[in-house]
Amino acid sequence: MRISELANPRQVVLVSSEAEIVLLGRRMEKKDIITLAWHMPVSMEPPRYAISVGKTRFSLNLIKKSRCFAVNFMPAEKEKEVLLCGRTTGQSTDKFRESGLTEEECEKIHCPRIKEALGWLECEVVEEIDAGDHVVFIAKVVYMREKKEGKRLFHVSGDRFVRV
Ligand SMILES: Cc1cc2nc3c(=O)[nH]c(=O)nc-3n(C[C@H](O)[C@H](O)[C@H](O)COP(=O)(O)O)c2cc1C
Repeated sequence: MRISELANPRQVVLVSSEAEIVLLGRRMEKKDIITLAWHMPVSMEPPRYAISVGKTRFSLNLIKKSRCFAVNFMPAEKEKEVLLCGRTTGQSTDKFRESGLTEEECEKIHCPRIKEALGWLECEVVEEIDAGDHVVFIAKVVYMREKKEGKRLFHVSGDRFVRV
């Protein structure tokens, strides 16, 4: 049995990031979006948020390098985009282009965020924990904004979500 079978349903978010990295010997600026179900607030004062990113994920390289990321809370109708960002890798796919999601620059950090989100957090990494096959980033929330209310997607398993 997997932990997620007991822990789900969990809300899914899209985490966006950007960094200059060396890929195939070439230095380049890369942006990425990863779908995450493993994320949570961990402190109110100071405001801190944690995300858990698998060691095989391309986003891991970007967040390790830039030390920042945006957590985008997506409306339920973006299920197709959430699955695309959770099933393709930014190493070979430009997920902003492929998903059709609109990129906007964050207010306080050098990082893209997603215009279609209901709200977002801008985060600066303060601690990185090797948790096993995932790395947990604990981050200071330097800006947050709710744009509108709406139903969210909670992941059950595979392609199954509930909308709350
Ligand atoms: C519903 C759903 C939830 C996911 N939750 C996580 C998660 O919490 N942590 C994680 O590392 N990967 C998670 N993934 C897998 C990544 O989103 C997936 O491996 C993605 O392709 C990685 O993209 P990247 O290589 O561009 O970073 C999830 C995927 C889906 C579809």
